[in-house]
Amino acid sequence: MKFFVDTAEVAAIAELNDLGMVDGVTTNPSLILKSGRDILEVTREIAAMVDGPVSAEVVALKADDMIAEGRKLAKIADNIAVKVPLTWDGLKTCKVLSEEGTMVNVTLCFSANQALLAAKAGATFISPFIGRLDDINIDGMDLIEDIRTVYDNYGFATEILAASIRTVNHVLECARIGADVMTAPPSVIKALASHPLTDKGLETFMKDWEKTGQKIL
Ligand code: E4P
Repeated sequence: MKFFVDTAEVAAIAELNDLGMVDGVTTNPSLILKSGRDILEVTREIAAMVDGPVSAEVVALKADDMIAEGRKLAKIADNIAVKVPLTWDGLKTCKVLSEEGTMVNVTLCFSANQALLAAKAGATFISPFIGRLDDINIDGMDLIEDIRTVYDNYGFATEILAASIRTVNHVLECARIGADVMTAPPSVIKALASHPLTDKGLETFMKDWEKTGQKIL
């Protein structure tokens, strides 16, 4: 499963990128707001740092305007994936930009039927939002499972990019189901390394090592 980082914070992306943990990046208007940066400038910086796809989201609501915005974002770098919402206009935009050879990430997906439409419109990625479904007491993992089944039934090449990941369990479940990609905030990716038994075991080893009176360096 590929790891995308869901942030527009350049320093946080750089830290994970240096460890080889970053296969791509996703941003959205709320994350751009949080970063306090100009969208074109920060997207350019991220795209130059990361090898994989960097999603940058359009903010227009009508297809013609979305297409114009998408073309402008796509010009930033070869690894830009234009992010469009799963609306009828977003699907039209997806079709046009995909045919022009631009990667498209169709976002705000909350049903397998929506995912089916995105695949038919040529989406490179479909972004089902797990956490936001959990927020309204619907199991977001059922959606990932349903999309996996539908896409596999018909051999769609669109990659399932599990989004709105909030916990380490979300990551594990996505990997079990076979999501192609998951995008998570840096804090969740870093939390994957933590286990209380690792901490406890290390503490014991350190105490015993001290008792040996030895040094390696
Ligand atoms: C995905 O591309 C979105 O940017 C993101 O995962 C949304 O997550 P949230 O629901 O935690 O805001």
